[in-house]
Amino acid sequence: MDNLNNSNADKKLVEIKDLSISFFTPAGEVKAVRGVSWSLREGEALGIVGESGSGKSVSVYALMGILQNPGKVIGGSITFNNIDMLKLKESQWRLIRGKDMSMIFQDPMTSLNPVYTVGNQIAETVLAHTRTTAQKANKEAVKSLARVHIPNPERRARQYPFEFSGGMRQRAMISMALSCEPKLLIADEPTTALDVTIQAQIIELLKELKKNTNMGIILITHDMGIITDICEDVIIMYGGQVMESASVKELYKNPAHPYTLGLLECLPRLSSDSDEPLKPIEGSPVDLLNPPKGCPFAPRCFKCMKICLNNQPPNFEIKPGHHSACWLHQYQSGRD
Ligand SMILES: Nc1ncnc2c1ncn2[C@@H]1O[C@H](COP(=O)(O)OP(=O)(O)O)[C@@H](O)[C@H]1O
Ligand code: SF4
Ligand SMILES: [Mg+2]
Repeated sequence: MDNLNNSNADKKLVEIKDLSISFFTPAGEVKAVRGVSWSLREGEALGIVGESGSGKSVSVYALMGILQNPGKVIGGSITFNNIDMLKLKESQWRLIRGKDMSMIFQDPMTSLNPVYTVGNQIAETVLAHTRTTAQKANKEAVKSLARVHIPNPERRARQYPFEFSGGMRQRAMISMALSCEPKLLIADEPTTALDVTIQAQIIELLKELKKNTNMGIILITHDMGIITDICEDVIIMYGGQVMESASVKELYKNPAHPYTLGLLECLPRLSSDSDEPLKPIEGSPVDLLNPPKGCPFAPRCFKCMKICLNNQPPNFEIKPGHHSACWLHQYQSGRD
């Protein structure tokens, strides 16, 4: 992320600067992402956290070049592997997608086709991006299934997605995403639909893949808990903007933004033996057709001040590499 480690600044795999995305709907312009900036270094993992509708998915759709109409990037820049992505033609984007960058989704059936065997689909991906024979691609598919610990990969490769359990299907999708050894893996809520045990296994698998490859990972989640094991850095999004960004360690030690504090309050306390229910943050999400003039979190913020209602807070650097967009820091740091 910006400023976290300047010595590695030349090794940025992804850099998003001042990105804005709108959906031009019959009801008006939905300002889904507004001036978002972040970056990811090679071989590292970034968590993007925020409640539903905060702009997490559409930001990465723009990075993958899969933003659907009526969505449009209306400002900013996206650099991946030193390529200015917004200048690419669709045909150039297709060469990169599935090869240098891959995405896994909450629902594996988004990526897996029910009418082809799993092995066939992985082999097709390999064939589409590398010069090889069908026979070698089939071998690669089996290897790829073995890499994500699918038992009996030769037999499994000949089966259809419906013959796989939920967790195994998720592994098959990850295996397909990894078949061309991408530089970047984007995981959009990859464990949300899974039960807790399988969730833990998939997280374990992502951790292992990260350790054994130099692949960068973007892990999107609404659950603060799951980023701690994998990610070096985290950004917290709300209402299409970045509220706070820091290393995961720093964020847990010194959460600064009232929205982050609210998210942490919502985390189940594993050490607690009480049956205390989770506390969601009260209030409604931002109306992105008419986003507020000031801080987007103001209507739900327990620390809201007059200035917050009329003026967007700047992104204060409260420590090297730790930023928070909240007016409170101006008063804390004594700035005027
Ligand atoms: N197809 C669409 N048409 C209109 N608005 C959309 C569409 N897709 C997304 N949006 C808007 O973009 C916002 C962010 O969506 P998304 O990135 O999917 O949120 P999330 O953080 O849950 O991944 C949504 O709240 C919605 O207002
Ligand atoms: S800027 Fe104001 S309303 Fe927004 S999070 Fe900070 S204190 Fe709350
Ligand atoms: Mg989403």
